[in-house]
Amino acid sequence: MPQPLADDSLVLIDAPLDKAGAPLQRQLHDRLKQAILAGRVTPGSRLPGSRVLSDALSISRNTVTAVYELLVAEGYVQSDRQGTRVAALSRPPLRVGRDEPAAPGVASRLSNIRTMVSRGHTTAALRPGVPALAQFPLATWRRAVDRAIQQAGPAGLGYGDPFGAPALRAAIARHLGLSRGVRCTPAQVVITEGAQEAVALCARMLTNPGDTAWIEEPGYRGAKAAMHAADLHIVPKRVDAEGLATGDADWAARPPRLIYTTPSHQYPAGAVLSVPRRLALIAKARQHGAWIIEDDYDSEFRHAGESIAAMQGLVDHAPVLYLGTFSKTMFPSLRVGFMVVPEVLLAPLSPPLKELLRGGHLHEQLALAAFIDSGEFGRHLGRMRRLYRDRQRGLRDALTRHFKVPHTLEGGHSGMHLTVRLAPRFPDTAIVEAAGRYGISPVALSGFALRPLPEDNGLVLGYGNTPVELYEPLVKRLSQLVRAAETPAHKTGP
Ligand SMILES: Cc1ncc(COP(=O)(O)O)c(C=O)c1O
Repeated sequence: MPQPLADDSLVLIDAPLDKAGAPLQRQLHDRLKQAILAGRVTPGSRLPGSRVLSDALSISRNTVTAVYELLVAEGYVQSDRQGTRVAALSRPPLRVGRDEPAAPGVASRLSNIRTMVSRGHTTAALRPGVPALAQFPLATWRRAVDRAIQQAGPAGLGYGDPFGAPALRAAIARHLGLSRGVRCTPAQVVITEGAQEAVALCARMLTNPGDTAWIEEPGYRGAKAAMHAADLHIVPKRVDAEGLATGDADWAARPPRLIYTTPSHQYPAGAVLSVPRRLALIAKARQHGAWIIEDDYDSEFRHAGESIAAMQGLVDHAPVLYLGTFSKTMFPSLRVGFMVVPEVLLAPLSPPLKELLRGGHLHEQLALAAFIDSGEFGRHLGRMRRLYRDRQRGLRDALTRHFKVPHTLEGGHSGMHLTVRLAPRFPDTAIVEAAGRYGISPVALSGFALRPLPEDNGLVLGYGNTPVELYEPLVKRLSQLVRAAETPAHKTGP
């Protein structure tokens, strides 16, 4: 009489083997190995006898015996007089992130990093975060790169300064002092592969696994990914009309080691972190030994009123790592970002940074330094500021006239995107998926939240790389798609 299988073993027979596919022995070996590695069969538990398993899977007993022998030889299982037991592997069973199991052989913390519903091609209409690519002065840039290649000569082909080309670090320090109120010397500026690498470096260098990191909710997905990859305990903190909202109770509960914020233009909702909150955050961070990552990704494009100075320069020796990027002000494929390391961290961080970074992209860095120093960068920023202002105005007009769905519009005092909030009966992910089929790539607001509330529903619309002439047809189409996505339970009217 066939013996019943232990609960643990059910995962081994939950699907038949594919008789027309790869050799059965290989399929069974893969299945058992993966179940053991993923912790789906517990160490110490007994595998079903070869006859039981061969009956359950309708395969020959010899196949099962051969696989068990191979697993013994590899150390996944041990055989004794009572049967075949799963070995206690020294690696812990993989932790699961939310509901999804981690892939075998991959760090379990990576399963917490989710991909977006749809990001669309970089040139797709209304995609956030992409600047006006066709307006970039490519010919001027090419000349600057050519000059840099000539000037650097063969030495420019070697490894560079791990912190980046000194000329660029000096140009950035000068520019930040003048335009963003950042207080720093060139020695504090470290060039990175975009701001994204800078966030990841901060997460790795300023925390230990398991430390608490606060991130804005809803907030920048790249920051969350970096924190997950550093194995941090991420605590989402809501943002409101004054930006990141935290109070004494938050600090009393579990003070963070790291706080990620976009104070000049909260991404994606668009608030500006108020000065009282900035000062309170700095004071509390100082008191608790926490570091603030100030991601100043798009504040160069200020559209309303005076530019808001960076938190970093607000008080002396603020516990702030200021991060910037040339992805918006120049172009994303340049992959040049930077972080401004507080003076007090230079000594402890310099040795590891010098080992972690290798320098490089010298020609682009030298060209960029010359671009900034010659005033070309400032002129380009001025042109783009005017262009984005016009584009934003055009998009607002098109939404007023053609977006026939109740909504609220947020953000827009800087940068290249607007956020349209919608009632929950218009599910943003369904709209985004449908829009993708028409080459339109807004991003779903709910995708920016770790624990989305009903109000985290809407569309983030990027106008940086989409010309005004297209807004009317695009908004009309979006409006149709939003209405079509309305959930039946809520549908009103005929
Ligand atoms: C909030 C925020 N920070 C930083 C970045 C920039 O990253 P990078 O410089 O790596 O392109 C982006 C890009 O979209 C962003 O939205």
